[in-house]
Amino acid sequence: MKRIPTVAGMKAEARGQSAAGRTIGFVPTMGALHEGHLSLVRESRRSAAVTVVSIFVNPLQFGAGEDLQKYPRPIERDAALLEKEGVDVLLVPETAEMYPPGFQTTVEVERLQENLCGATRPGHFKGVATVVLKLLNIVRPDIAFFGQKDAQQAVVLQRMASDLNLDVTVRIMPIVREPDGLALSSRNAYLSAEERRAAVVLSKSLAEARRAFKEGERRAAAVTARVRDIIAAEPRARIDYVETVGWPDLACLDIIDRDALVSLAVYLGRTRLIDNTILAGKE
Ligand code: PAJ
Repeated sequence: MKRIPTVAGMKAEARGQSAAGRTIGFVPTMGALHEGHLSLVRESRRSAAVTVVSIFVNPLQFGAGEDLQKYPRPIERDAALLEKEGVDVLLVPETAEMYPPGFQTTVEVERLQENLCGATRPGHFKGVATVVLKLLNIVRPDIAFFGQKDAQQAVVLQRMASDLNLDVTVRIMPIVREPDGLALSSRNAYLSAEERRAAVVLSKSLAEARRAFKEGERRAAAVTARVRDIIAAEPRARIDYVETVGWPDLACLDIIDRDALVSLAVYLGRTRLIDNTILAGKE
């Protein structure tokens, strides 16, 4: 596995691979890798000739008071995991390499960034879209892989790729979970033992949403209310938001007569976790 710390080095590598006729699969991450990330890597390995993974904790997408400083950075462990998966190139730029002095250009996906996580994390999706556009320009992949775990992020980036005519297919992969249902996340490491036990309420509440939907509930507000009630019964959990919206447009929905996303963010202590499920309108 080649480890490349510079933009120029990565551009040269990508040019070489493309000139040799090889397709490039790309998995952007912030590191502290787990099976969720690795599921994207494996899909890239299956789909493309060359797999590039980036690890970059992007300051632009963290708000004031968020966990930028304490975000875990186990780079040697991550590199060993990726090596084992057969990754070809690991891009690991320093912050100054991505944001040199004078940097001032950003990109915003206007409507999709507004609700859900965008409402409580202002500026977050601007930071995500900007860094991913930069990474796509540097790596020039044919396919880029993102997790449904961050569903809003995935549709923001799909929209950006489409609106800006990028030569990349953005693929969204399923959520990887722990045996008890908790969605894998680098932030799960922040949880105390009690918070970890309580965290199962996120996926439990979404399972209840799926059950209600399967039994015929079609009122979005009623589905949302069920999810809220279950989370409210867990004293260690504090709701940031729960919403049921159209998928993939994230638009307001009264009656679930098409695909819908039930999305939530919940605090366990100081740790904010997210999860979601898609209700298939054709079911
Ligand atoms: P990060 O949180 O490291 O996630 C990298 C990718 O892994 C994202 O596409 C995310 O949705 C996916 N992922 C995380 N947990 C997952 C799980 N349990 N199952 C499946 N996929 C999962 O998301 C980011 O980094 C950043 O915002 C980034 C896109 C790299 C831009 O900085």
